[in-house]
Amino acid sequence: MILGIETSCDDTCAAVVTRAGEIVSNVGSSQCVHQRFGGVVPEWASRHHLELVNAVVDEALGDATLDDIELIAVTQGPGLVGALLVGVATAKGLAGARRLPLAAVDHLQGHVAANFLAPDPFEPPFLCLLASGGHTLLARVTDHRGYETLGQTLDDAAGEAFDKGARLLGLGYPGGPALSKLAAAGDREAFAFPTAAKMPGLDFSFAGLKTALLYKVRELGPEETQRRAADLAASYEHAIVEALMLRVRRALRDDPAPRLAIGGGVAANRLLRERAAALGVPVHVPPPELCTDNAAMIASAARWMEPQPFPRYLGLDAYAQRRAA
Ligand code: KG4
Ligand code: ZN
Repeated sequence: MILGIETSCDDTCAAVVTRAGEIVSNVGSSQCVHQRFGGVVPEWASRHHLELVNAVVDEALGDATLDDIELIAVTQGPGLVGALLVGVATAKGLAGARRLPLAAVDHLQGHVAANFLAPDPFEPPFLCLLASGGHTLLARVTDHRGYETLGQTLDDAAGEAFDKGARLLGLGYPGGPALSKLAAAGDREAFAFPTAAKMPGLDFSFAGLKTALLYKVRELGPEETQRRAADLAASYEHAIVEALMLRVRRALRDDPAPRLAIGGGVAANRLLRERAAALGVPVHVPPPELCTDNAAMIASAARWMEPQPFPRYLGLDAYAQRRAA
């Protein structure tokens, strides 16, 4: 069995997964402390990971012990370095004590590998749209070991655009679910927000959209913004989803075997799911607990990796930014 550990942002996660991709356990503890700041505070995230990580690993192991574990997988990056280091140090400590091998997993490859987990694995080749608070990526996945980046965001991530929009509308953090809920009662045609449709290729940009909402809110003033909040939310959500789907459609058009997987926290979005289902190609969305940050996806990615033997990994470092492919 493989023990996975993930601490790249504000979720402290551990999971046990078999070589065949069956999830034995998948435990995550979300840090509520960041809510009152309207975003993740990196230093607090690290401290809370330190407090939580041993208990989360214990819970993931359940009745199993480290004797049942043959490989430890940990997120090496990208993410908050201080947060990542807690997971990396924990993994090194556990693996080193048992002389177990260690797999250093790329977080985005983990999101891709969430699709490979039982009981409903989605096998390559497919296009993968990852949209979360930290990343927005369109990738072509042709095998279990990696992916080719087709497009990524040039500024904000899609989830970040949801969160910032929600903030402008006076909703809480994380704002995606709240904004989407409010949008359900609104008219998505009420306001025309930009989708960067004229930008060619498969990259994304959400900064202009966020600024457009800011100007609209200023123009309307507090009372009118309040009164039209549902329409603003619906039009804004519509623009984000359209921006995502536009690139997906472009990529699918050029694909010989068009199939799509969606991951990341934004995959929970109702409108995005509706639009994806209407594409007319096979679409795979892992269950919500595997779309958001989790350790089962990290263990899943490790199944196809060459792990590092003891003691080579003791010098392993975390990285904040994605390595050049
Ligand atoms: O993957 P995730 O849990 O954490 C990382 O950022 O890695 O993604 C969280 C993001 C947040 O920006 C949140 O607002 C967004 O996903 N999100 C949603 C919805 N649920 C979560 N955005 C739109 N609609 C939703 N239903
Ligand atoms: Zn993530």
